[in-house]
Amino acid sequence: MPHTTFTTTTRGLRRDTPPMLLFERAKRFGVWNPSDLDLSQDKADWAKLSPEEKDIILRLTSMFVAGEEAVTLDLLPLIRVVANEGRTEEELYLTTFLWEEAKHVDFFSRVLTEVCEAPADLTVYQSPNYRRIVYEALPEALCALEADSSPRVQARASAVYNMIVEGMLAETGYHAYFTIMDRFGMMPGTREGVSKLKLDESRHIAYGVYLLSRLMAEDPSVWPTVEATMNDLFPVGLGVVTDIFSHYDPPPFGVTQDEFLGYAASQFQKRFQRIQRARDLSLEQVNEETRAILDANDA
Ligand SMILES: [Fe+2]
Ligand SMILES: [Fe+2]
Repeated sequence: MPHTTFTTTTRGLRRDTPPMLLFERAKRFGVWNPSDLDLSQDKADWAKLSPEEKDIILRLTSMFVAGEEAVTLDLLPLIRVVANEGRTEEELYLTTFLWEEAKHVDFFSRVLTEVCEAPADLTVYQSPNYRRIVYEALPEALCALEADSSPRVQARASAVYNMIVEGMLAETGYHAYFTIMDRFGMMPGTREGVSKLKLDESRHIAYGVYLLSRLMAEDPSVWPTVEATMNDLFPVGLGVVTDIFSHYDPPPFGVTQDEFLGYAASQFQKRFQRIQRARDLSLEQVNEETRAILDANDA
């Protein structure tokens, strides 16, 4: 399709819009290099763990790395839609989003091979509920955009990607790493990588909240799709947690299933309420709310 106009040579980039503010933050904070992390202490700590302790970290990391690979592979249809709509500011930000997901794959892959000395095939750790979301719902929702780029299909894609995979599963995953690593003062290189990755993900989720809010401001009829998508996947997300704990009695590191189910549910509720509140906002209010979220993330 030929171009008829360019943003930079007509109205100019709108630097005070949420995607440009996210792009600025990504250029400043998203430039860490997974190859620079020192994992030597992590290797020494790993050698001292019991078989069950190693098993739960391997399970968590194998789920995380495949999840990062999935979001890297599946993001492109959304970027294509944003580009086709001529949303230059959003696409500038999304270039950093995809690059960051690729670095997250790189990071967890290093942990697996250099710290955990993991076997190549870890698919045994990927449970039915995990597969339902990461193998099926995520690519289904994103690939649907190739045939239908309507606001409703965009909203479904963002609800699965940003609200369930990032906002519920990934956030619960960091909570598990931080809980274990802080409680036992171990694996500092991995902890540092997870904390950098978490900052990247906070921008991704902020973009998802912005995108869903913008879509609803432009077309309020997308809300029932967002609501149904999130509610359908909520029990599956909780199932990912119970699948993990079903392998341990008692679970290693003193962690409990209830603690993580509660955390996953509260993350879901937080995202759901934020999106629900955005239903009645105008585009200008969406921009203001997103700026407030970014300021809060910076604080
Ligand atoms: Fe990621
Ligand atoms: Fe992400």
